[in-house]
Formats: sequence, C-alpha cells, structure tokens
Amino acid sequence: MQVFHSVKEMQHCARHLKLQGKNIALVPTMGALHKGHISLIRKARIDCDVLIVSIYINPTQFAHGEDYMSYPRHLEKDMAKAAGEKVDIVFAPTDKEMYPPGFTTSVDVGELSARLCGAARPGHFQGVCTVVTKLLNIVHPDFAYFGQKDAQQALIIKKIVQDLNMEAQIIVLPIIRDKNGLALSSRNKYLNKYERKAALVLYKSLQAARRLIDTGERKSEYIKEKMQELIQKEKLAKLEYISICRYNDLNELELIEKNTLIALAVQIGRARLIDNYLVENL
Ligand code: PAF
Repeated sequence: MQVFHSVKEMQHCARHLKLQGKNIALVPTMGALHKGHISLIRKARIDCDVLIVSIYINPTQFAHGEDYMSYPRHLEKDMAKAAGEKVDIVFAPTDKEMYPPGFTTSVDVGELSARLCGAARPGHFQGVCTVVTKLLNIVHPDFAYFGQKDAQQALIIKKIVQDLNMEAQIIVLPIIRDKNGLALSSRNKYLNKYERKAALVLYKSLQAARRLIDTGERKSEYIKEKMQELIQKEKLAKLEYISICRYNDLNELELIEKNTLIALAVQIGRARLIDNYLVENL
C-alpha cells in the first residue's frame, strides 16, 4: 500500500494510473475508520482496479466551537485497517497541502446547505463541498463512495458533481448499524455506556415513524410529534431537529410521499448524532 501526504505526488500518481487505463475508486474519509467506512471500502474494492482512501480531518467543515480539536485521530491504526482491506493508496494530506497560505476559494451549493444540519452548523457544507471538490480534482476517480447516514451530504455531493460537470460517479451505500440499531459514526466514540444506550432513541424514533407510515399514516406533523415524544422521554437526549422532507430539494413536506427523507439530529453528551430513514416507495 502506498501512502501520499502531498497533493502533487497524489495527482502525479493518479494521472499515471489514468494513462494506464486504470479504473480508480475514491473513498473519502476523516479517518477513525469503522465498519461503515469498511463497507464503502469493500464495495469500492470490487468495483475498481485501484482503490484510494483519503484520510483527512477537514478543518473547514467544523463550525466554530465544534469538535475539530477532539475529533478522533488514529492515522496509524487507520492505515493498518486500510492495508487489511487491500487498499492500494492512502492519501493523507496535511492542512498546509490542502489549504496553503492564500487559499480563499469555497464551493457552495446554496439552499440545500442551509437546511437540516446546515441550519445548526453554519459553513459546514461549504467546507464539505470545498474539500470533496478538491479531492475529486486531485484524484479524478471514476467512482466515489459515501454513506447514506449523511443523507444531506450525499445529496449535496451529487449536486456539486452534476452542477460542476465532474466525471466521478457518486455511489451512496446503506447505513451500517450496530446490533442494537445505533448508526455507526466516528462520534460514537464520545459516548459513555449510559449515553450509548440513550443514543438508541434515534433509531427507535425512526422505527416508530416507519411503523406509522406502514400502517397508512401520512401526516408529517403527527409523525414528528410521535418521534418527539419518544426523544423527550430520553433524559440524556437533546433534540436538535426532525425533518420530514423531499429527498431532492430538502423542502419540508406536509404529507409523506415517495422519496421522503425522515432525518434527525440529537445531542447526547458530547456527541451530536444524526440518523435517517428514506421512504423510497409507498
Ligand atoms: O463524511 C465525511 O467523513 C466527510 O464529510 C468527508 C466526505 C470525508 C469530507 O471531509
């Protein structure tokens, strides 16, 4: 497995691979690799000739006062995991490489980034869009892989790729959960055993919503109320938002329809957790 820390070296290598006619897959990550990342890496491994995993904790996507400084950093462990999954290249750039002095550009998709998580995390999606645009421009992958847990992020990334005529095909893979239903996230590391139990309320409330929809309920307000009731019962949980919206423009819906996203963010201790359920068909 090769490891690059410099943008130039990564670019040079990717260009060379392209000239050789290789199919490249990129799995962008911020490290602290868990089974969710591994599911992306395994699918990508099957799809391509050369598998690149980027590991970069992008400072520009953390809003002021968020957990940038304490975000889990395990580069050595992550590289060992990547090697175990037969990753060909790890791209782990430094901040200076990604944002050299004088860097001023930012990529903004507009409205989509102001809703749901964007409302509470000003600048977050501009940071994500900017770094993902840079990664796609550095590597020029044929495929790039993201998790459905970050449903808004996945939608936004598809939008920048479409709007900016980028060539990578964006592949979004299902949420991976632990045996109790907790969606895997690097931020789960912040939870103590009581908080971990409390965190199950996200999945439970989504399941309750799903059951209501399965039995014919269509009113978003009612479904939100039922979800809220469950979350309020959980003392360690502080609800940030529940959104029931169309999964293409993120506009709130009064009635559930095909392709409705039910998403929520809940603060539990130090961890801000998100989860969602996509109503694909009715
Ligand atoms: O989902 C993440 O881990 C990050 O937002 C990403 C896509 C790697 C960009 O920093």
